[in-house]
Amino acid sequence: MPELTVVVPTFNEADNLSALVGELTQALDGLDWEVLFVDDDSPDGTADRARALAQHNPRVRCLQRLGRRGLASACIEGMLASSAPCLAVMDGDLQHDPALLRPMLETLRGGETDIVVGSRHLDGGGVGDFSAYRQWVSRVGDRLSRAVLKARLTDPMSGFFMLTRPALMACLRNGVSAIGYKLLVDLFASAPRPLRAAELPYTFRSRVAGHSKLDSKVVLDYLALLTEKLVGRFVPVRFLAFSAVGGLGVGVHLAVLWAVFRGLGLAFVPAQLLATLTAMTFNYVLNNSLTYRDRRLRGWRFLGGWLSFTLACSVGAVANVGIAAYLYQRETFWIASALSGVLVGAVWNYAVTSVYTWRR
Ligand code: GDD
Ligand code: MN
Repeated sequence: MPELTVVVPTFNEADNLSALVGELTQALDGLDWEVLFVDDDSPDGTADRARALAQHNPRVRCLQRLGRRGLASACIEGMLASSAPCLAVMDGDLQHDPALLRPMLETLRGGETDIVVGSRHLDGGGVGDFSAYRQWVSRVGDRLSRAVLKARLTDPMSGFFMLTRPALMACLRNGVSAIGYKLLVDLFASAPRPLRAAELPYTFRSRVAGHSKLDSKVVLDYLALLTEKLVGRFVPVRFLAFSAVGGLGVGVHLAVLWAVFRGLGLAFVPAQLLATLTAMTFNYVLNNSLTYRDRRLRGWRFLGGWLSFTLACSVGAVANVGIAAYLYQRETFWIASALSGVLVGAVWNYAVTSVYTWRR
């Protein structure tokens, strides 16, 4: 039975699979291993290609997920679908060097190490043909990760590593977030006891076929992951994002009010009404594309969502003013009264729209 499962998350990598299996076969010759492709229903037919390979090669398996996306969650589900005591994660586009897997496995066999990380920043490693911009983003990511990592790593942004099953299970049970791309950071930050880590150098290769899926969303996901690791135990990250959007909405409200009341000379009450509606719509659109981008509403459901959001927030506004007025009448300091109203309104809006507007 396999001692090692190499979990390979794939999205549109059909043209890379057979070359990767070829390289793995060479690099792992004499070992007991399997490769498990976890594909999120790629339109290019990656899963079919993987199953075709599996029909001729018992070392190849495929786990296909429907209606799901996400690199970290794909890797986790792949590792949970394996029986091997050692688990590696590597990209499906040949950018990670399979030759590193054998020394990684030997390190784990020593028993002193929970996880071995492939590092581009050790002597003997390299970032390959990364653009200056991506190197900079990656360095900023490294820095930020220090706030949550319980270890010193030269390359925490790495997507190439191998760990033991007990270490994996300990991290998973202690609350891995599974947001976005950076599973390695997630694992280290979730470990109940600091992971005993080793690093091995490798050079990031150039992509031959297909395209990178890394885009600006990856950066947002990473920030969400860090926030959750830092404060997620106390406040839901979604609530923080929702509140930040609400803060921006106040700015929009004042700008519109200023333009139509002072600029165009509209009466105050209709101007305030218009500003409120504009700010609510602004908040709705931003929350729909950021806070709830994983449940984003489109088409007719986008309109329905706008309606329920506006209704919920109108009730929230009434609650806000009511609470603030009550406290103020009981001689609470005016700022404290106002902020209490705002907080109650925000929690209400968040709670109600999370159930009615962006229901699962
Ligand atoms: N199942 C699944 N679902 N796989 C995905 C998804 C997804 O939503 N998004 C990307 N993948 C797969 C790709 O098919 C590829 O095999 C692997 O994940 C890495 O994706 P790339 O798009 O090739 O990422 P990259 O090369 O730009 O980034 C790599 O290098 C970074 C180092 O800066 C990744 O290894 C990152 O994890 C790593 O941090
Ligand atoms: Mn890649």
